[in-house]
Amino acid sequence: MIVLAVESSCDETSVAIVRNGKEVLSNVVLSQIDIHKAFGGVVPEIASRNHIEYITRVFDEALSKANMTPKDIDLVAVTEGPGLIGSLLVGINAASAFAFANQIPLMGVNHMLGHMYAAGIDSEIKFPALVLLVSGGHTELIYAKDHLDFNVLGQTYDDAVGEAYDKVARTLGLPYPGGPIIDKLAHEGKPIYDLPRPVINQDNLDFSFSGLKSAVINLIHNKKQRGEEVDPKDVAASFQESVIDVLITKTQQALEKYPVKQLIVGGGVSANKGLRRRLFEEIKDVEIIIPKMMYCTDNAAMIGAAAYYQFQKKGALPNYLLGGYST
Ligand code: KG4
Ligand code: ZN
Repeated sequence: MIVLAVESSCDETSVAIVRNGKEVLSNVVLSQIDIHKAFGGVVPEIASRNHIEYITRVFDEALSKANMTPKDIDLVAVTEGPGLIGSLLVGINAASAFAFANQIPLMGVNHMLGHMYAAGIDSEIKFPALVLLVSGGHTELIYAKDHLDFNVLGQTYDDAVGEAYDKVARTLGLPYPGGPIIDKLAHEGKPIYDLPRPVINQDNLDFSFSGLKSAVINLIHNKKQRGEEVDPKDVAASFQESVIDVLITKTQQALEKYPVKQLIVGGGVSANKGLRRRLFEEIKDVEIIIPKMMYCTDNAAMIGAAAYYQFQKKGALPNYLLGGYST
């Protein structure tokens, strides 16, 4: 089954062509990061306008890189949420128009399902699995009994972990997105500052990162007021150590409660080198699968992968029924 997938939920305009949920024939990702950098974060209205400008070009490039025409496509899949509403609408409209014009069935895919199946592109997913999703908008632990049979075990009460990275970076005067830069600095610094490990000892699998973010911001401001130097590398190392301590402890608690065959990790923050290293060092008794770096942050290949499994289980959704396909 050949899926053409579209992802436009935030600031990446992406179209991919994926065979049987695994073989990525093309994955064009046009990032708007340089445009939003000037504002210190994603500006929703600017993001939607740029998606409109790029989307047709990205469709054409994905087809030509895969050496395909619309006739070769069996299913069109598009991120239907969660995400920025204006940005999502551009992808949904483009995918609907393409599917309708070429009489191909269309399917909506949840963005976080895409982040989970990103790990399945290069590895075999095994069930039951525990899924740790860490992105700019979400921090979740999920129990996956089977394909598309999920239970959310815990999630963040406030900020997502990626959001905390971005805000800490901004306070340090570093550009958006903060995650990759903090990750790099953390490896050059020492975790000398004592920061909280929020909700680490609570008897549930939820997360909280806004207090940690505030603790870092207060630390920087207090030092500045006293005229003391703060080395951004040491702040980054301390913040990252706290984040990873929390993520790993909560994941271990979940693994104790819910024995599984595999730990699947996904989302933009799963690109974090410190997190990747410590996961493999500290979690030994279960197989861990993490996407390749290129499939950690937003991309359409992960939507194409998820769509394949969703189609096997549910078919195309009736409200997306186009071109004579029936469930
Ligand atoms: O999954 P994603 O591309 O978009 C959302 O669905 O939100 O995740 C983006 C988030 C941003 O907050 C970014 O700072 C973070 O992922 N990120 C990282 C790293 N690379 C991206 N955070 C920590 N370390 C990284 N290496
Ligand atoms: Zn994402």
